[in-house]
Amino acid sequence: MAIGDVVGSEGCEFLRSNLPKLKKQYAIDLVVANGENSAEGNGITPFSARYLFDSGVDVITTGNHAFRRREVYSLFDEDENLLRPANLPEGTTPGVGICTLDTLKTKVVIINLMGTIFMESIDCPFKKADEILRNTDKNSIIIVDFHAEATSEKRALGFYLDGKVSAFFGTHTHVPTADEYILPNGTGYITDVGMTGVIDSTLGVKKDIIIKKLITKMPARFEYAKGKSKMDLIIFDIDEGTKKTTSLERLTIR
Ligand code: FE2
Repeated sequence: MAIGDVVGSEGCEFLRSNLPKLKKQYAIDLVVANGENSAEGNGITPFSARYLFDSGVDVITTGNHAFRRREVYSLFDEDENLLRPANLPEGTTPGVGICTLDTLKTKVVIINLMGTIFMESIDCPFKKADEILRNTDKNSIIIVDFHAEATSEKRALGFYLDGKVSAFFGTHTHVPTADEYILPNGTGYITDVGMTGVIDSTLGVKKDIIIKKLITKMPARFEYAKGKSKMDLIIFDIDEGTKKTTSLERLTIR
């Protein structure tokens, strides 16, 4: 199961109140959630990361907000299941962008990458994916979270990795796309999973703040919205033998 960007305490609490029963209902083996906005305020903190892990998330991926909060830097080095984008510069950023889980029926590798269109210019995600896959056991299920803005870049990397990875999902826009399907060579794909957070909001932020900012063109302090939440997610069914996706289902829990 892949869960879209979890936003603030409302998103975290909604995830915690729904994930256990969903895991049981769908016999989920592994949960990956993007948690880069899980802290109240912004970014991710040790508290919000621990909250997600304790709620049943196995691997937390991040993106452009990975290092908003200084207090989480050491956790990126200590907890191998908390990932930052692999194509950030090595040596200057805490943590790693890839982890391997051996506890499941078969070895599972999770890779976190970030886009470069309308985002900071970092290492090429295509070349970084090649480099990682060269050094990855081919007999693994491989799952990619591509945290990116441009749908074109997401679809292009998805096609580029089709048949080389088992599942590929996008995050970052907080809006789910209705294009989930199995690519020609067996990779389960979706451009963006969506968001876990308050429904009446702009990407999780209080809508009035964003409206005012867009009209006045003045800086504004973002505050997360409060109210009724939802959780966007996708479930990939992956064959342990072929490592390909055999079916996938996108859901919004309200
Ligand atoms: Fe993001």
